[in-house]
Amino acid sequence: PILGKATDRNLPFTAIGPVAADQDTFTVPKGYKSQPIIRWGDPILPGAPAFDGTKQTAAAQACQFGYNNDYLDIIPITSTSALLVCNHEYTNENIMFPVAATPAEADEQKRIGMNAHGFSVVELTRTGPGKPWTYKPTGKLNRRFITSTPFAVTGPAAGSDMLKTAADPTGKKVLGTLGNCAGGTTPWGTVLSGEENFNGYFRAAGTTDSEKRYGLTDRATSRNWESLEPRFDARSADYANEPNRYGWIVEIDPFDPTSTPRKHTAMGRLKHEGANVQVAPDGRVVAYMGDDERFDYLYKFVSKNKMRPLTSLANRKHNMTLLTEGDLYVARFIGDSPAAQIDGTGTLPADGVFDGLGVWLPLVLAGTSQIPGMTVPEVLVHTRLAADKAGATKMDRCEDVQSSPKTGKVYVACTNNTDRGKVDKEGPTEVNPRNANRDGHIVELTEGLTGDADPLATTFRWNLLLVCGDPAEPHTYFGGYPKDKVSPISCPDNVAFDSDGNLWISTDGAPSTLNQNDGLFKVPLVGKERGRVQQFLAVPTEAETCGPVIHDRDGSVFVAVQHPGEDGSFAEQHSFWPDFVPAGTVAPKGQFAGPRPSVVQVYRG
Ligand code: FEO
Ligand code: CA
Ligand code: CA
Ligand code: CA
Repeated sequence: PILGKATDRNLPFTAIGPVAADQDTFTVPKGYKSQPIIRWGDPILPGAPAFDGTKQTAAAQACQFGYNNDYLDIIPITSTSALLVCNHEYTNENIMFPVAATPAEADEQKRIGMNAHGFSVVELTRTGPGKPWTYKPTGKLNRRFITSTPFAVTGPAAGSDMLKTAADPTGKKVLGTLGNCAGGTTPWGTVLSGEENFNGYFRAAGTTDSEKRYGLTDRATSRNWESLEPRFDARSADYANEPNRYGWIVEIDPFDPTSTPRKHTAMGRLKHEGANVQVAPDGRVVAYMGDDERFDYLYKFVSKNKMRPLTSLANRKHNMTLLTEGDLYVARFIGDSPAAQIDGTGTLPADGVFDGLGVWLPLVLAGTSQIPGMTVPEVLVHTRLAADKAGATKMDRCEDVQSSPKTGKVYVACTNNTDRGKVDKEGPTEVNPRNANRDGHIVELTEGLTGDADPLATTFRWNLLLVCGDPAEPHTYFGGYPKDKVSPISCPDNVAFDSDGNLWISTDGAPSTLNQNDGLFKVPLVGKERGRVQQFLAVPTEAETCGPVIHDRDGSVFVAVQHPGEDGSFAEQHSFWPDFVPAGTVAPKGQFAGPRPSVVQVYRG
């Protein structure tokens, strides 16, 4: 509402070509400039020292911008002030630190890693509309959430025995948030984020059905935090439930630096990619959520209560309770073409389209479990087991899921599934039509059977918008658009919309599939241009493009550049972006002789 009026302009561009995977450059179209707003280690809290990658400490990291920024939003406050909110999914110790010389040094590196996870909230300022932003190192709303930050647990599973540990006999207070991947900003101005690969932080007995289903195993973890904090070793009776306290959707209020962040059990426990909220016509809110694992599921949460207009702080407070109570569903997809026509190659069936109907299968409805033999808290803590029993459709790794603000249609990024069709694994289905699905696809889902896109509907229609890959290959599909006029795209991950309703897709995996750097792509969804994928930017070598934010009416685009140079080592870095300190030289104060995950703005200039 604030952006755009005075500076109404779109983002015209000529697509860039693919950038080879060894290029350590951030590439934008002609007529645009790019500039990092904030980098790993930049100071954001009082007393934070300038970044020194040769002498990093846990104390410094707790007051500096974290590592591996993923979900991102730039929330405008006025035309010259905004809040940057992003999460820090994980750390790449191999390129952050030299090999530890002593046990004490190794422990300090673990503590730095813990303090580089979580969230950052940072105030931004600029000189005028359309100008680039700079961050305020002393902003009053600046905040870090780290692995020791207390989170409150809400919803029907809060306080259940399944969430209690020796350190928290209430089962309602958890320290930290881990593996935060994609997310969404709510209509009431809070930020949601999914705890995705939380299992990798815990050593567990790995013997229960639930532990097996969530990938918890009795192996030393790569970060070995269990050697530092007993709660990361779930083999002990004291902390057997600690992993149950992760895998949730978290909600933070970036506008209140004293607020307690929360984990919402009503939305189920999975390897949550993220959650995006849509408001139904009657005011209830609906959140779409993916579980990013091969052969896992797509979910929907519907709140019990209705959103109130943001006309008072009391109403906002009410809205912040909406995700604590409601119904939880999982999706079943039914193709409309004969199974024999879905041959696993990506060849279109005779009706010319991968499409069909679907049903939202209830797991929890009106406070009642819909799964025989499981209580509501059990359904919410062991949601994957409940969804297995319900008969959900196994998907090719649902990542970001978001509905179009223009049409209400829902877009599901299925990033890839190289196991589809393998021995003992499920073969092709119409909604996941390729065996060894290397490049991923995008599902377009319309709620209801009448086309009215009512998010409360329990049935839907669906079709594949994109079957990704090199358009020269026959197994790809670009919404029917001529394939000689589109950009190659692989492994769709995060999605966003511009104000015209075009879909923007960021990718994670193109270096290994198409030997090109990951990037950000625009695709129109209606009219003659539907399916015309055009690449807007490319990130540096070995990086993933995350958190796209499209302020087209302000002429700017923002992305989080995650894990640049991730396959290098501290001694032999693969990326030097964005500081470009020459290898073998001493970094000037505040810079780093290696890569730094950063939030980048692209603007016209
Ligand atoms: Fe963290 Fe599913 O990507
Ligand atoms: Ca069909
Ligand atoms: Ca992701
Ligand atoms: Ca991904």
